[in-house]
Amino acid sequence: MLKVKEIFDLGTKMGVAADPRGPKGVQKYLDRVKKQYDSLKKEDKEFFDVEKLTNPFPDGFIHVDDGKTQVKRVMAGIDVNEGEILLASQLNERGKKIDLVIAHHPEGKGLSNLHEVMEMYTDVYPQYGVPVHIAERLTDERIREVGRGTHPINHFQTIDIAKHLGINFINTHTITDNLVDKFMKEYLEKNNPETVGEIIDCLMLLPEYQYAKKNGFGPKIVAGAPNHRVGKMMIEMTGGTNPSAKVYQQFSQFGISTIVGMHMREDAIKNASDSQLNIVIAGHMSSDSLGMNLFLDELEKHGIEIVPCGGLIRVSRVKKGKK
Ligand SMILES: [Fe+2]
Repeated sequence: MLKVKEIFDLGTKMGVAADPRGPKGVQKYLDRVKKQYDSLKKEDKEFFDVEKLTNPFPDGFIHVDDGKTQVKRVMAGIDVNEGEILLASQLNERGKKIDLVIAHHPEGKGLSNLHEVMEMYTDVYPQYGVPVHIAERLTDERIREVGRGTHPINHFQTIDIAKHLGINFINTHTITDNLVDKFMKEYLEKNNPETVGEIIDCLMLLPEYQYAKKNGFGPKIVAGAPNHRVGKMMIEMTGGTNPSAKVYQQFSQFGISTIVGMHMREDAIKNASDSQLNIVIAGHMSSDSLGMNLFLDELEKHGIEIVPCGGLIRVSRVKKGKK
């Protein structure tokens, strides 16, 4: 049995281990945050969220924690809104005690800080041959754009309800996006598809994508064709949200041929296609579910029951007897 903070810390540890920057890259990020904090004037320091000094993923936080619950049952969803929190409360009243609600997508300050996690692109793109000055400029532009987009949202509405109802609540986001990103890289490297169509075949062996296809949101090739060669492949499943649409031209120029992502904006698909890239969209809810499942399986191994909600396609990979 684990407490809420132990569950969040376990997720963070898993997210760091799977991070495309590597644990050293994550530490460098935290060192930069500390430097930024240290350079602030005394009067500005009180407005700095000190949790950011130790939390390497500013789009995931503990939102409500009574500090004492030993978690036996978790309700987990991709999107947790007011309805899911009320559902948890209803289940509590009916004797099915929900000890913790875990959302994937950001809530509260996880949402208002979402853009900050995107700086990982600056470290990741040079790994694929894009010069750092291009990675940095395009990432900075996009960070400002996403920051402006999330700024006016009502970030704390769902958290307010969870507080009133005494429902423990956390969200993961980049923690579990890192898990699916690493999983997919290793899975596709192992299966070594020669054509873009074979990438779809590989995805379709995974139950999350089978469920998605049956329900109308299966993997798709949105640029290129099934018979195209894969060439150098890039997995785009972590980093906060979609990057700048301008990066696809750079990827193509610096040697990437095929991108496998969760979702992509129309302007990005057009740029990618104009740059002759092959693009496979694995699917948003299915890929987010896969990442969450890899984390939730660890909780299951600790004896915690998982109640799926909010669009989560729950698939357990825990071998029987290991629970
Ligand atoms: Fe997502």
